[in-house]
Amino acid sequence: MAIRLGDVAPDFTAASTDGEIEFHNWLGDQWGILFSHPKDFTPVCTTELGAFASRKAEFDARNTKIIGLSVDSLESHDGWKGDIAETQGTALNFPLIADEDRNVATLYDMIHPNELETLTVRSVFIIGPDKKVKLTLTYPASTGRNIDEVLRVLDSLQLTAGYSVATPVNWTDGKDVIVAPALSDEEATAKFPKGFKTLKPYLRVTPQPNK
Ligand code: BEZ
Repeated sequence: MAIRLGDVAPDFTAASTDGEIEFHNWLGDQWGILFSHPKDFTPVCTTELGAFASRKAEFDARNTKIIGLSVDSLESHDGWKGDIAETQGTALNFPLIADEDRNVATLYDMIHPNELETLTVRSVFIIGPDKKVKLTLTYPASTGRNIDEVLRVLDSLQLTAGYSVATPVNWTDGKDVIVAPALSDEEATAKFPKGFKTLKPYLRVTPQPNK
């Protein structure tokens, strides 16, 4: 069954390049990002894993753990790691799940048979410290993901989890945000000491509150 926003992220135990992972225990009280790759030794996946590895410090800075998945074996992953380091200039520095029995892929509905019969598509799940799914993204095998976008939505999720705001189109960290429509003007005045601008009664903007 498809995973929906607000669902508890399914827990699992799986073999990974960093040893056995008990997913919820591994997440602890941090944010987490689980992303799938169709297959080992494939070109787009190789570039994605190198890019996630080279930018891992940016996820660390956001108190967020990252973990990849491919349905190939641990032995295959170990061989592929060498190619990733060689061609992408960064060694894998986070776990890659070996989901040979497709247990995790099935739990997270990562196999879309009309797109790829037995391999996973490029799924992304962002999971909050409460273990609930905050965001899902699905890309076809032929389109690599965008790390800037993953970080951008993570920034939005973390900001909106702590403040009564929403982020507008193309928002990036540091830009003005939208006052939650549920707040009255009086409540907004109390919550946002930098003030807010009313463009329409339902569209009020304020400087990013945690800057
Ligand atoms: C790739 O990562 O390049 C890829 C994987 C599966 C199918 C097509 C492309």
